[in-house]
This record gives sequence, structure tokens and C-alpha cells, in this order.
Amino acid sequence: MPAPERTAGPDPWSTLLDVLVCPLCGGRLATSGGSLRCPAGHTFDIARQGYVSLLSGGSRAAGADTAAMVRARAEFLDSGHFAPLARLLAERTAAFCPAGGTVLEAGVGTGHHLAAVLDALPRAVGLGLDSSKFALRLAARAHPRLGAASWDLWQPLPVRSGSVDVLLNVFAPRNGEEFHRVLRPSGALLVVTPTARHLDELRQPVGLLSVDATKEARLHRTLSQHFRRTGTEVEEAVVGLDEPAEVENLVAMGPTARHLAAEELHRRVAGLDLPVRVTLSFRLSVYRPLVRSEQ
Ligand SMILES: C[S@@+](CC[C@H](N)C(=O)[O-])C[C@H]1O[C@@H](n2cnc3c(N)ncnc32)[C@H](O)[C@@H]1O
Ligand SMILES: [Zn+2]
Repeated sequence: MPAPERTAGPDPWSTLLDVLVCPLCGGRLATSGGSLRCPAGHTFDIARQGYVSLLSGGSRAAGADTAAMVRARAEFLDSGHFAPLARLLAERTAAFCPAGGTVLEAGVGTGHHLAAVLDALPRAVGLGLDSSKFALRLAARAHPRLGAASWDLWQPLPVRSGSVDVLLNVFAPRNGEEFHRVLRPSGALLVVTPTARHLDELRQPVGLLSVDATKEARLHRTLSQHFRRTGTEVEEAVVGLDEPAEVENLVAMGPTARHLAAEELHRRVAGLDLPVRVTLSFRLSVYRPLVRSEQ
């Protein structure tokens, strides 16, 4: 797929320094050489690859994608098979993001979806948080208006309260209380989860983990303390994969990769009759923040 033409617009950090705060004291961050620094002197390196290291001491949250998972994800997303999802996210984000607004993606991965969203919003800036340095290296370069920072989503977010217009959460951990705190009351949380049909054709022959049938109800229960769900839609496509590497990447970028050795995956994919038709099936839900009296 040809790379889209990108609108550079403002340096994202000039806006994002109004959004990010020092994770240790909540103070305002400013650039200082190759770092960000708060008035109390807490200093966070900007890595050579362009992302800010807010997670201290090289700490790494459980769940961070490995180098191999990120490589597989980047290669598979490059194939364009997830483009309908990126388009849908861009359309739905545009409905809630004012000109010059801020979009936060919690669990940004390679930055693929956030970059597509920013392409559709020529003046918006994006902040991507993730705990995987391998993902952040790519996210930091995914779009000129995207800033990336390392963080563990289970910790209080280093983000100013009420500063985010749209919060994207695509197959990543959800911290409802913190998502609510950082969103403007006029904002929206867009959550994408796989449906039970996602990758169904590969489930048995490759031994994929099943999508937990109670997951959607659990998701809704957790978020409903802080949000009202205002819409849900399913985006589905059947794609033909004719290269073993494509099938391997699709599996290796997801949760099954944590339970299946690469050699075994390779062996199982070699046994498939290619091309194989695979269903990609996502549910996108829109959540609006409850006001305090509704919580
Ligand atoms: C399945 S990937 C999805 C990435 C991206 N949203 C996409 O759809 O391409 C999940 C991402 O969440 C990140 N992640 C998992 N646990 C995390 C945590 N506790 N804090 C921050 N990021 C986390 C992983 O490193 C990974 O990049
Ligand atoms: Zn500080």
C-alpha cells in the first residue's frame, strides 16, 4: 500500500507538554536538552528513537509486546488488511475531536491506527502510551504529529485531567477510572475488541486461543462505572492470505504468540492449505464519560 501523504502541522510536543505531566509529582514538563524535566528536577530521557521514557529504570509492564510480536504486527499491518478498521476509527474519532484536539491512544503499539486517525484530522495531535520499547520505537516515527511515551496503563496516567478529546483503546488494557479522569467531559472513549469470529478459520488448525465469550460483558461492566456506552458496531472482512509469513505474522502479533513457540507456529502454518481465507472481526464501542452525579 502506498504511504499516505502526511500533514506535519505543529510540533506535537508543543501541545503535548500541556497534556503530559511528570509521573512522579504531577508537575509541568518542559524540554531540557534531550530530556523532559519538571520544576522539581525529575528528568525523563527522550530516547534516540524519539519516544519519552516515563517508565523509570527500564521497568517494563507485564503485557508489553516483545520485539518479535512488534515485528510481526508491523509487517502484518503494512499489508493493509486492517485498513478498514483504521478508516472506521478515523471516522468515529473525527465525530468527537475538535480542530486542534488531542487524541490519546492507550496501548499505541506501532502507532498504525493513531497515524491513520491523525491523517484524517489535519490539526489534531496524538499521544501514544505503551510499555513496549519495541513498539514505541516505531510509534515515535509513525506520524509527524504523534508523540510517544513509555507508560504502564495500570498506573495513574501521566496525563493532565480533562485534557484529552478522544481516547483510543485497540486490543489493549483498559483502565476505566484513569481513562475517565483524563478525558474532557465532551470527549469519547473508543474501544476496539475482537469478536468471537475473529480469526475463526485459524483457531483449530493453528491452535489459537479462543476469544473469551464473557469478555465483552466484563469490559462493559468495568467501564460502565465511569462511562455510558452510546454505540457499538462490528467491522468484519474476510481476507485471503497466500503467504505462510502473512499467517505467521497474524498469529505472532496476538496473544497466542505468548503460548506458542515460533518453531511450532511455523510447523503448523506449513501444514495449512494456502491461500487461506481468514475472518477479521472487530467490535468498536463508543463510550461517553459519565458526569460525577451519574457515577
Ligand atoms: C495487541 S497490541 C495492540 C497495539 C495497537 N493498539 C494496535 O492495535 O496495533 C497491545 C499493546 O498494548 C501494550 N500493553 C500491554 N500491556 C500494557 C500495559 N500494562 N501498559 C502499557 N501498554 C501495554 C503492548 O505492548 C502492545 O503494544
Ligand atoms: Zn516531577
